[in-house]
Amino acid sequence: MANHHFGKFADIWKHLVLNEVLAAAKPKRYAETHAGSAAYPIVDDAERRYGVLGFLEWSGSQPLASAPYTHVVSEFASKQPPEYPGSALQAMRMLGDDAAYLLCDLDPASASDLRTWAARLGLGNCEVAERDGMAAVREWMTGTTSTVVHIDPFDPFARANGAPSAVGLAAEVAEAGHVLVYWYGYSVPAERAWAVEKIRAGTTAPVWWGDFLATTDGATRDDGDLGSATSAGTGSGVVLANVSADVVGRCTELAGALVATYRDKRLPSGEPGRLDLAIGAA
Ligand SMILES: C[S@@+](CC[C@H](N)C(=O)[O-])C[C@H]1O[C@@H](n2cnc3c(N)ncnc32)[C@H](O)[C@@H]1O
Repeated sequence: MANHHFGKFADIWKHLVLNEVLAAAKPKRYAETHAGSAAYPIVDDAERRYGVLGFLEWSGSQPLASAPYTHVVSEFASKQPPEYPGSALQAMRMLGDDAAYLLCDLDPASASDLRTWAARLGLGNCEVAERDGMAAVREWMTGTTSTVVHIDPFDPFARANGAPSAVGLAAEVAEAGHVLVYWYGYSVPAERAWAVEKIRAGTTAPVWWGDFLATTDGATRDDGDLGSATSAGTGSGVVLANVSADVVGRCTELAGALVATYRDKRLPSGEPGRLDLAIGAA
């Protein structure tokens, strides 16, 4: 397992949005550049108590209770021992054998877990590529059939042997008319929504984004810690392209509900926390 961040708060928002997109688009093709493992044993720590464990405890009212993400994560979290489904397994569960999949990860253990789950779910058309995700997904995109492409990069700017960077591929996906789900993070509030302009530089496709910044009681701080903790000053967001107005409306509603649900919940550090939401379209 190469992904040590599963089930933290950043996953909650990313996966809420991803599942809304998949439920609405019901794509025939789903590609993921950085798929991670299929499933993770849930650990009980401060990050998951603010992330998946807290979400499941606090999301009992609408619209979070009926979100497709809540259904899939509840199913796996109620198993013994409890598991957290990664984004690729969420997609496999939601779309089943009606879709073709390209799931990429450089980590052999993650790739093996993805293959195991694809076989367990009886998927007839699921390729797991143990190679650079940007190169593999670029080759897999066709001009005709709409694909949902999820890009959840480890390094947004890294390029392997002529392949595009993650943000570069995001712009190509959007420009080609495919549905884009792009995750980004940052440790300094001044970098909020940084990925939007980078992607927009390479496409004229309309984009929408939703960005959450962890704060202490609404006060922003400059000492975030992406990659280590959900501390004040840390933030992340999702950029969508080529999605319907209904999806945008639903994601906007879910974002507002997350802010309300997390009001006064303590951050993993124990400090009183609040989520600051920024939403935009261009
Ligand atoms: C944060 S995890 C992915 C989580 C997953 N998308 C989810 O939302 O559940 C990032 C993964 O990217 C993989 N990775 C890093 N660089 C990569 C690359 N160039 N191509 C494909 N996978 C890569 C790592 O092995 C790791 O499993």
